[in-house]
Amino acid sequence: MLRSPARDRVLSSKSIPRHGLWSSPFIFILAVIGSAAGLGNIWKFPYLVGQYGGSAFVLLYLACVVAVGLPLMVAELMLGRRGRCTPIHSLLRIAREEGLSSGWSVIGWLGSITGLLVLSAYSIVGGWSMAYIFRAAAGAFHGLDAVAAARLFQELTDDPERLLAWHTLFMAVTVLVVSRGLRYGVEEAVRWFMPVLLAILGILVFYAHGQPSFDRAVDFLLRPDFARLDAYAVLAALGHAFFSLGLGLGAMVIYGAYAPERVSLLAAASVVVLADTLIGLLAGLAIFPMVFEAGLKTSAGPGLVFQTLPLAFGGIPGGHFMGTLFFTMLVFAAWTSAISMLEPAVTYVMERWRLDRPLAASLLGVLVWSLGLLSLLSFNLWSHLHPLGDWLTLGRGTFFDVLNFFVTGLLLPLTGLLTALFVGWRMSPDTSRIELDGGWGYRLWLILIRFVTPAVVILLFLQAMGLVDLFLDWEGL
Ligand code: PHE
Repeated sequence: MLRSPARDRVLSSKSIPRHGLWSSPFIFILAVIGSAAGLGNIWKFPYLVGQYGGSAFVLLYLACVVAVGLPLMVAELMLGRRGRCTPIHSLLRIAREEGLSSGWSVIGWLGSITGLLVLSAYSIVGGWSMAYIFRAAAGAFHGLDAVAAARLFQELTDDPERLLAWHTLFMAVTVLVVSRGLRYGVEEAVRWFMPVLLAILGILVFYAHGQPSFDRAVDFLLRPDFARLDAYAVLAALGHAFFSLGLGLGAMVIYGAYAPERVSLLAAASVVVLADTLIGLLAGLAIFPMVFEAGLKTSAGPGLVFQTLPLAFGGIPGGHFMGTLFFTMLVFAAWTSAISMLEPAVTYVMERWRLDRPLAASLLGVLVWSLGLLSLLSFNLWSHLHPLGDWLTLGRGTFFDVLNFFVTGLLLPLTGLLTALFVGWRMSPDTSRIELDGGWGYRLWLILIRFVTPAVVILLFLQAMGLVDLFLDWEGL
């Protein structure tokens, strides 16, 4: 299924990648799934589902994934495989090849820089997850009540030194993996981390299946109830489709650059999107039965995993062990994503200044680590600082909130929009037809990337700018 016969005929010497090739189509797909499945699936997806009323949100999310996520994932992988370099140089190369302005390399710049920004904050949440492994293992969740669970979380976020230690450790592992290169770093990490992640997810779902509230959780996730949907849920679903699939950061472009020639990118992207969605849903199936069992609310927001869940783990038999497993899974999921956020910028520095990989990874690691301090301090010493005041729809956000807003609200959609316009309208359809093997799948993709994706992304944009409220004033669907 993954073989692409049309490409067999167009292989040429220019398609020799600069930084190596995945050693098999399987590892390529597993790595892309690893990049896509991260904190977004296990921490964010369940809390968004909980916040926006369950299954109707799930359906919306699926619609967004098909209309925006899948076409963009195909486009990003294709740009990478066509260019075979770091995203910035791949874009330059393709633009030149197509006789287009070199200004289109802005897509690569935006993605690579945003990747570093996201990683700086991602590492903080990855650090929390690491801290929680040890807390769970030490039995800290036992007999917690709601106040104590909130205090436990606050104790962590209030303590800059502790956060710094975890942030440093999380970044150190990420840098170490990236500096070992494609074969011995990224692939090796994917080979070890992904089975651990999937096995733990399997154990957790199996365990949850034995809980009396399992059916209620299935209902909650899968039986549509449109009454609670509003415009915000629609747009949250859209934004999350971007983030969860790992789009707009150059991650898919660089992983595509290492893709074997004969893999069908349409098929590969479909498998990835399906797996990513399944991992999010299974995480929900693992979490919600416990939340229901403990009689807790599903709408706790970002605190669902770090406050509600420990409470649930504290009150169930085997919760001690299950809690440790859960946070271990979260950390591995975060690492396989974090690696792919650093890789685009690292390969750029390698290509541009001819630095070797370990040096490039370490320099950028220090840069990201330093940037991360701003997010870290925004939970404690600088929690009173609101860099943008009451600007836009943000309210009085801390640095962490502002970063989140800029990334998911502006930078990711902007990169996505430019990618859709470049691939759908500027690149010649002959190029994309060859890369994607023609056929009905290709034609459908072309329609989506030309019309549907840009329209939907523009809607997202307007919401982020606070403009969409002007004309989207629904009480429900
Ligand atoms: N998709 C990842 C997650 O769900 C985050 C990510 C974004 C990874 C962009 C790579 C690129 O957590």
